[in-house]
Order: sequence, then structure tokens, then C-alpha cells
Amino acid sequence: MTGILDRLRELRAGDAPTHGGHVLAYVYDSGMPELDELADAAASLARPVNGLDPTVFPSIAAMERDVLGFVREALHGGRDVVGSVTSGGTESCLLAVKTARDLWRAEGGEGRPRLLAPATAHAAFQKAARMFDLEYDAVPCRPDGTVDAGDLIARMADDVALVVVSAPAYPSGALDPVRQVAAAAKARGIRCHADACFGGLVLPWWPDAPVWDFRVPGVTSISADLHKFGYAPKGVSVLMHRGRRQHRAQFFATTRWPGYPVVNPTLLGSKSASPLAAAWAIVQRLGDAGFAELTASMVRVARGIRAEVETIHGLTVMGDPVGPAIALIADTSAPPAERVDPHRLADQLAQHGWKIQHQPGFVQADGSKLPRSAHLTLTPVLERNLRDFRRALAAASDAVRGRGPADGRLLAGAVRMLGYSADRVPGPEASWRLLRIAGAGSVKPDQPMATLMALIEELPAPVAEALLTELLARFSEPR
Ligand SMILES: Cc1ncc(COP(=O)(O)O)c(C=O)c1O
Repeated sequence: MTGILDRLRELRAGDAPTHGGHVLAYVYDSGMPELDELADAAASLARPVNGLDPTVFPSIAAMERDVLGFVREALHGGRDVVGSVTSGGTESCLLAVKTARDLWRAEGGEGRPRLLAPATAHAAFQKAARMFDLEYDAVPCRPDGTVDAGDLIARMADDVALVVVSAPAYPSGALDPVRQVAAAAKARGIRCHADACFGGLVLPWWPDAPVWDFRVPGVTSISADLHKFGYAPKGVSVLMHRGRRQHRAQFFATTRWPGYPVVNPTLLGSKSASPLAAAWAIVQRLGDAGFAELTASMVRVARGIRAEVETIHGLTVMGDPVGPAIALIADTSAPPAERVDPHRLADQLAQHGWKIQHQPGFVQADGSKLPRSAHLTLTPVLERNLRDFRRALAAASDAVRGRGPADGRLLAGAVRMLGYSADRVPGPEASWRLLRIAGAGSVKPDQPMATLMALIEELPAPVAEALLTELLARFSEPR
């Protein structure tokens, strides 16, 4: 047995560090090891239970009640706000869309409904639109990542089943104009989802954040992830609805088969209760005061990093983020020879032991562009290493200043010459060959990403998506 676990330890040693704040995406370290221990113990206690049926395992319902009650209070929901614990942000977003679509139809909507969202809304909403057959209508944002409420409102019509706003948006850190959008949606009888998967357990304690939660009358549902700033292990989020009727529309129930009557509030059937138990234990331990303290730490981290970026010539923060997401972009007010390309910066920082996340430049529906950027998720633990991170950021910027972005045009040209386009995407073998030619055809986790990102910017989206699908699929293919 020790041999098996030793092998796993060896494999885990090859992973990016999940603790210590050196990875500024994907992982959310509170900096409190006792929280992890508590979560592990709670998860272990709940491990054998099947989360499918709280009538057989009432501990699940008890933990859900407590977690939902805590989140409802944090989001200023009244007694009319009810919800469910889901397996993560994507599932919460999917269910918000499915529910709105079903109700739109039940209320007389005909044809194919529309899902309206700023271009910066999380990709999970595109997934939802594809899965549940809605037209995805992405409203272009300004280059600083903010959306004009008027642009969203102008596109509201009877065929819109749901309008989405983010609190905040992952790619930019911007808090969308929730109040204006929700008010206009309410006036037109359209549901409005505030996606707070990222910020739901931070913004309630963030100083001077505009009001965006259930205090805003037209907000009809909110998603908030416990496996992000709830510091729980992956697999737990909540979706809250205003009103029982809307919540119940999320459920699937059937007695029309010869087996046990099935009632699923969420997408899965049998499911682990461990992430819920871990989240429940953390919420009990932290309470309101604990979340406030951890948020205060992130506020100091955000201020420190923004102050540092102000001193770095050629680099700037996108817009004016509210919460613990920051996007870094090249400062276009500096001459090109003095700019810091965010993707070069991200690759360089990796050599200093810090990982920030590449986000490709993006052409919106109206042809306008959102600049390429590097995303930083700020966590409480980073406060301890803030001085080191600031120093690394400055040094890495100095090292890459004036280096232009990687060039994906050559390979993109080759792809076009081979006849691939949005209408003719390469299959698995051709995709793999193209990736190898681009120097991205390896399954090493630590390769520089600037070239791959440049390629994504140049290629038609369906071709880029085929290549990335291939890259990821190869990672897990048996050798
Ligand atoms: C705003 C927002 N919504 C949805 C999601 C999707 O969450 P998950 O990765 O837990 O599925 C994320 C993830 O970063 C997010 O930031």
C-alpha cells in the first residue's frame, strides 16, 4: 500500500504547488492549514454517504441547510431565497440557464430563446447555451473589460430567457452594472442571473463594493462557489434562487421507470457528500468574522499589487477591478519598444516560480478587441509572500520589456494553406501534427505558453478549439 501512495506522492510532486500562493489561478489557499485539516476530516467522515438521497442520509440535508443559510445571509437574501448545493461553478451556471429556459417556455416563450451576457461572462454560459439549445448573444465590452449597461439593455426582448451579469467577471475583474441591468430586466419580465462564482464569498466583505446581490430587486438567481473563496476542496458551489417556484424548476423528477423514484435537484445522480461536508465544516469554523478577515487580507494584497504595477513602466491593470481578480495588460500609452507583453511576462514569471494565467486577445462580435492579458487570482496566503511577488513582477517585467508578442501568423498561414478553416476543422491526427509543428505538441506541463496563445489569437476559433481539444485529450491517453 505504501508503494501505491508513494507513487501518487511522486506524481503529485510534478504538480504546480497548490499552497503558498505561487499559483495565481485555479487554487485558493486561505493560508490556514487548520482549515485544510478540518476539511479533510469532514470529507473523510462523509465519504461513504451517497449525496443522492437526503431522506436516507439526512446529514446531507442538515449540512446543505447550514451552508445555504450562511450564503443566503451573506448575499442579503430574504426567506424567499432558496437554493441547492452543486458540484461547482459550471454546474451552478448550467442549472441557472436550464431553469430560466424551462420557465421561459412554461410562460409561453416560443422558438429558440436567447441567453444575453457581456462578452466577459464565464465560458460556462456558452456551454449552457450549447447544451440547452439557446442562442448565445455576447455583448461587446469596452477595451477595459467593462460593459455598458445600455448595450445589454438595448438587446433585451421577449426571446431573452436570461440575462447574465458577473460579480466580478473572471477575465477582467470588473463588477458588471448589476443594478441597471437587473432593473431593466425586471421591467421587461426577464430573469437576471448574477454570476458570483468567483466573488460570492469575497464581495460581501469587500470595502465599497457597489450593491449587486439579492438587495437588487431584479436579480433572480446567484451562483457562488465554495470551492473558490469558500476555501473548500473542489466539487462544491451553490445556486440560489429568488422564490421557490424558480428553484423547483431546476429539479428533475420522474416516477416513470420501474426503479426507485428519482428526484435530482442538480445534474448528477449519485454524488459524493465529501465536498459539501468540507465546505460545511469550513463555514462553521470561519463564520462571518473569518470570511471578513480573509477578505481584508486580499484587499491588502490587491492594493499592494496595483501599487507595484503603477511603478512598472509599460504594464498596467485592465480597468478598475472590484475583488480578487486582476488582469494585467501592456500599457499602450508607452511606445511599443517599452511595453510589457503580458504573455511574455507570464512565461518569464514562471521561471521565477510564479504562475499567472495567459488570456488571449479577443475579437468581439462587433470586431472590437479586448487586449491579451494575464489573469491573477489573489488569495489570502499571498499576503505573506507579497514582497517577493512584487519583486518578481518588477524583475520579470524588466526582463521582457520591449519584447513584442509571440507571432502566430506563420503557422496560422500554414493552417489556412492546408485548407483548414472555421468550416473545415482538422481531425485528431492532423491537429496533433499541427501542434507539433507549432512546438506545442508536447504534454509537458511547464512549457512557455506565449506561442500557443498567439496561435489561438490568429486561428479561426473552431480550428483553435480542435487543436486545444487534441492537446488536452493527449494528456490523458494511455501510453
Ligand atoms: C465568474 C465565474 N463563473 C463561473 C466559473 C466556473 O467555475 P468552475 O471552474 O468551478 O466550474 C468561474 C471559474 O473561474 C468563474 O470565475
